[in-house]
Amino acid sequence: MSEVRRAVCPGSYDPPTIGHLDVIARTAALFDEVFVAILVNPRKQGLFETGERIEMLREITTDLPQVRVEAFSGLVVDYCRERGVQALVKGLRGATDYDYELPMAHMNRHLTGVETMFLPGAPGQVYVSSSLVKEVARGGGDVTPFLPPTVHRRLAERLRD
Ligand code: PNS
Repeated sequence: MSEVRRAVCPGSYDPPTIGHLDVIARTAALFDEVFVAILVNPRKQGLFETGERIEMLREITTDLPQVRVEAFSGLVVDYCRERGVQALVKGLRGATDYDYELPMAHMNRHLTGVETMFLPGAPGQVYVSSSLVKEVARGGGDVTPFLPPTVHRRLAERLRD
């Protein structure tokens, strides 16, 4: 019997964008099980609580049955080891992402042998990031095209509060 192929898509997801969803869906097309793992970082206050990020990611991945959404703390390699994950999958929008991701990919492989796979960001989305979307939304700009509708609704509510 062949081994179940498992991947993890780790990130902050504060909030998840259409770029994140694209990477998650493309990963789900390649692996049997995909863990969307949200880093809990006590040193960094996000706009959304971890629980809200979990809810948003579950809402936008309901049509992807092989996807599971969880929070994690500590090292991503330990999370991978605990769940029998063979590969980390990350989206690359450009050279800046590559420069940021490459040392982590090498370090993670050094630590436990887990591989990192990069998917090129969809051409129409390479300028989409959680931080830019938040900045534009705070300034009153229209970020509708960059967010799944349920995430857009929550962001609008949060910025109204
Ligand atoms: O969405 P982000 O903030 O770019 O995601 C970064 C993330 C969460 C993937 C990265 O910071 C990470 O894997 N953190 C977990 C802690 C860890 O394993 N650090 C060592 C990486 S070599």
